[in-house]
Amino acid sequence: MKVLLTGATGYIGTAVTEHLTAAGHQVVALTRSTESRPGRGWHARIAGDTADPASLVGAVTPDIEAVIHLAPPSGDADVDTAVIEALATPLRGTGRPFVYTSGVWVLGATGEAQEVGEDTPTNPIDIVGYRPRIEQRVLAEAAEGVRATVVRPGIVYGRGGGIPAILVDRARKQGAPEYYGEEGVRWPTVHVDDLAELFVAAVERAEAGTVWHGVGESAVPVRDLARAAGQVAGVPADPQVLAAGEAAEVFGPLFADALALDQSVSGAAARTALGWRPVRPGAVAELESGSYRAGE
Ligand SMILES: NC(=O)c1ccc[n+]([C@@H]2O[C@H](COP(=O)([O-])OP(=O)(O)OC[C@H]3O[C@@H](n4cnc5c(N)ncnc54)[C@H](OP(=O)(O)O)[C@@H]3O)[C@@H](O)[C@H]2O)c1
Repeated sequence: MKVLLTGATGYIGTAVTEHLTAAGHQVVALTRSTESRPGRGWHARIAGDTADPASLVGAVTPDIEAVIHLAPPSGDADVDTAVIEALATPLRGTGRPFVYTSGVWVLGATGEAQEVGEDTPTNPIDIVGYRPRIEQRVLAEAAEGVRATVVRPGIVYGRGGGIPAILVDRARKQGAPEYYGEEGVRWPTVHVDDLAELFVAAVERAEAGTVWHGVGESAVPVRDLARAAGQVAGVPADPQVLAAGEAAEVFGPLFADALALDQSVSGAAARTALGWRPVRPGAVAELESGSYRAGE
């Protein structure tokens, strides 16, 4: 398939590009700048800015057989709705896939529940406050003949990047590992290459109107991640919780809240229904002995 990909230059988008190409698809990267060097594996590139939905009209040409929207939200629900309209409307009546990237933060704190599934009602934290409405806007395209689906990644790790790299960086700067929220806080996690394979599976065979959790491990204790991050940073010590106020000063209140979010989320549905097989090392192992040590 010829796949239009927004966010192709990003952390997840780079891996998605590689795995789509390896599976025989062609990636047309939609980028803000046409001046940067083309990414590896790109078949073509077109210009567009998701902060300016009018710039996306015409991006989905008749030869585009699928759209994966990975670029982050703008912060304005009306703008993001207009982006969905610009990218999905040309697919109406074609049965072609449109994959929207959301995230597990739309579920909020999962409390006592273990490994919550895709049918759990959303309860978004402030940083993703309006994102469930965008999910619903995407899924409504199923009634218009678009194979519309939503992928909600957990905390993405691997290739030395993502939020775990922030833990390593902070441990290095502070001279001690830290984490946020409460002692028992847990994150659902996914390796970036496993997640990229889920995007390929979603484009190839997810049914219209479906939501998928991109989660390899349902609830990883963040304390364990922080301890491993401290080892990578050369400061092996017992991780300490950074008080909420201090975390808000470092990260801003919205991101600090997100880092403190305790969740247990299941990625079982994608394994069963899409045949997704997350096979990379777990997040703690990846920190302890994988890509985060590459710079040593
Ligand atoms: N990383 C995670 O742990 C995680 C977890 C759950 C969900 N997600 C979601 O996954 C998506 C991708 O995340 P990521 O971690 O890969 O982000 P990232 O590394 O920051 O990459 C963002 C990508 O979006 C592009 N982009 C940003 N603003 C744009 C605009 N106005 N117009 C067009 N393109 C724009 C960037 O292009 P430039 O090269 O021009 O900057 C870049 O390619 C986001 O929607 C994020 O919310 C991420």
